[in-house]
Amino acid sequence: MQKLEVFGAKKLKGQINISGSKNASLPILAATLLSKNQITLRNLPKVKDIETMMNLLDSLGSNIKKAKDKIIINNSYQKKTFASYNLVKTMRAGILVLGPLLAKFGNAKVSLPGGCAIGTRPVDIHLDALSKLGVKYKIIQGYVHATAPKGLIGNKIRFSKISVGATENLIIAASFAKGSTYLSNIAIEAEIKDLINFLKSMGCNIKWTGKRSVKIEGVSEVEDITYPVMFDRIEAGTYLIAAAVTEGNLKIKNIIPKIIQTEINILKKIGAKINIKKDEVHIVGNKKIKSINIKTAPYPGFPTDLQAQMMVLLCKANKQSVIKEDIFENRFMHVAELNRMGAQILIKGNKAIVQGNINFAPAELMATDLRASVSLVLAALTAKGKSVINRIYHLDRGYENIEKKLKRVGAKIRRVN
Ligand code: UD1
Repeated sequence: MQKLEVFGAKKLKGQINISGSKNASLPILAATLLSKNQITLRNLPKVKDIETMMNLLDSLGSNIKKAKDKIIINNSYQKKTFASYNLVKTMRAGILVLGPLLAKFGNAKVSLPGGCAIGTRPVDIHLDALSKLGVKYKIIQGYVHATAPKGLIGNKIRFSKISVGATENLIIAASFAKGSTYLSNIAIEAEIKDLINFLKSMGCNIKWTGKRSVKIEGVSEVEDITYPVMFDRIEAGTYLIAAAVTEGNLKIKNIIPKIIQTEINILKKIGAKINIKKDEVHIVGNKKIKSINIKTAPYPGFPTDLQAQMMVLLCKANKQSVIKEDIFENRFMHVAELNRMGAQILIKGNKAIVQGNINFAPAELMATDLRASVSLVLAALTAKGKSVINRIYHLDRGYENIEKKLKRVGAKIRRVN
């Protein structure tokens, strides 16, 4: 099994080009199932989760051609409606094919994604909302067996809780439903706006009616288009934190800074110097990091996907900080590993009390989930000496060329078998 060896502590300096967004690409790939012809996507990141989603589409009968900087998906012969456990088990976003399959064929059998390290992660909100569009479903042996006997029919749906995935599944499904669908209390992450832009460029009829609400008028076919996926805001945030934590000097390029304004504001408060240009952010890390209390929240709040990375930075702050995790119930798996490196973090319910003024010591470490793994890389970058990070398949699910990108800005890091 591959590992990463990191030799700290080096200040990072240079520029990093941010890849396409994993979390925008996944629902967009699922939404290509609405097409009966050809869709071309650009700027997809080269990461494992995207490969898994392409394998899932392939198993459903999509024909996918990969070129250097684009993929072409042809759905002329796409007819299958069965998404197997093998393909959905490693990646929860597999459930996103349920909406488009029901919209296109009126039936689907999709594996439940199951639990994962960061929490139970049910799909009840997806299923409740789909049933309001006329879907009948049963759960049999781990699979959702769903049918829409009269086709999907538009309705008014208010989500009981803000969910990124359920919002995406419903927006895609309602785009092909008969009549109008009104969705409210939706998630408004930048990736959802990108999905809506993608669907609109295919000819779907979606209008914003409020800050957290849309009206969708169903259509019955979509056009062939080419679409470039947005940048990965979590990757951008991770490298901004990497600069801050190593007292580095990095230009984070190919991004839209206003999409990560919350993160930029927090890094400024902590003491980093930040200069914003049209499509880049230049950050210079400060020796003295100020403590801050943070809670994760749906966009535009602070993202749960950056909580672990921010915790590493706050270990170096001048005083104690508190991080409250309000999205997932069990997203502190990185804490035990960080504490093994000398951090002093105490968990109380959904709060992490983070002592400051920590100098991380190198260690042999175990990655537990995608964002937890990258937080270990960040801590290792600041620890003088050799750290070894095991189980980096978690990291490969979502970070394109991480060791190459870090090497180019001065990190001493290598992948070993
Ligand atoms: C997406 C992101 C993930 C991010 C998360 C929150 C993708 C592929 N993944 O995950 O990286 O951490 O948003 O920003 O985009 N919930 C239910 N029932 C449901 C659905 C969700 O109870 O049917 C709960 C979840 O357990 C969680 C909360 O709602 O506590 C938010 O989850 P959700 O926004 O749905 O996250 P994902 O779409 O799975």
